[in-house]
Amino acid sequence: MKEPECSEFLRWCLPRLRFRWPGFRKVRKQVCKRLGRRIAELGLEGVIAYREYLERHAEEWRMLDSLCRITISRFYRDRGVFDVLRTHILPSLARHAVSGGEEEVRCWSAGCCSGEEAYTLQIIWKLCVMRAEGRDIPLRIIATDTDDELLERAGEGLFEESSLRDLPPELIRQAFEHSGRFYALLKDFRQNIEFAKQDIRMELPGGSFHLILCRNLVFTYFEESLQRGFLERISGSLLPGGFFITGIHELLPPGEFNLKPYGGIQGIYRKPAS
Ligand SMILES: C[S@@+](CC[C@H](N)C(=O)[O-])C[C@H]1O[C@@H](n2cnc3c(N)ncnc32)[C@H](O)[C@@H]1O
Repeated sequence: MKEPECSEFLRWCLPRLRFRWPGFRKVRKQVCKRLGRRIAELGLEGVIAYREYLERHAEEWRMLDSLCRITISRFYRDRGVFDVLRTHILPSLARHAVSGGEEEVRCWSAGCCSGEEAYTLQIIWKLCVMRAEGRDIPLRIIATDTDDELLERAGEGLFEESSLRDLPPELIRQAFEHSGRFYALLKDFRQNIEFAKQDIRMELPGGSFHLILCRNLVFTYFEESLQRGFLERISGSLLPGGFFITGIHELLPPGEFNLKPYGGIQGIYRKPAS
């Protein structure tokens, strides 16, 4: 499919799916490729025929929604943010947990892809934070995504070198076994992580969290009313004094969500302690 045709189609369909075109502009190739495959699978002539097909088959919108998922991720993505997590946020959460008599620190990774973000947190928790603090308390992570294939891959814990390019080499050495094309994450770093299928537009994991990461999903691809609804829904899930992390290129919609920028780094917020 030609690029201008695909862009025009996306500009038409994305608002109907409550997505934002500007979020897709740079990564539209991924969606256009899938769209081309779907149109061929249906035996249609092109994007105009597909548009008519959508108008006649309401159930196809659900398929189109799934074709619009952007599935790019990697370990230690946005180094500056993970540096602050490693040196400030996670140590402070560990100390508060201990002084408050809590047995664990709880985290939710929303839109977790193949587990890159959740596994990065577990690696830095065990290899950096717990070692430096001289403690051993669990970081319990729930990692959610709506894509079955990605969740299956997350469970396998096998990654190619390109996924690890931002992860400091000393952490790669300690956390992975390298064999052939793949790096297999060692068992120690898969503990205390639960992967679950959830659509963030409809469901939230139960419980309360010290740390919530929602990066490169809601605030890039979803329309503003969905972004606001999401922030309102999670306000009860984030504990007072807890941290909320977005992607570094993402902005929160205008409004008061009881989140204060933290550490002078784009994408890190804290809920006031009281
Ligand atoms: C661009 S990736 C970002 C992954 C990771 N958070 C990061 O920043 O590296 C977006 C992820 O969100 C997932 N996703 C898309 N729509 C979703 C939805 N409605 N509910 C939950 N996850 C969704 C995709 O499957 C994909 O894994």
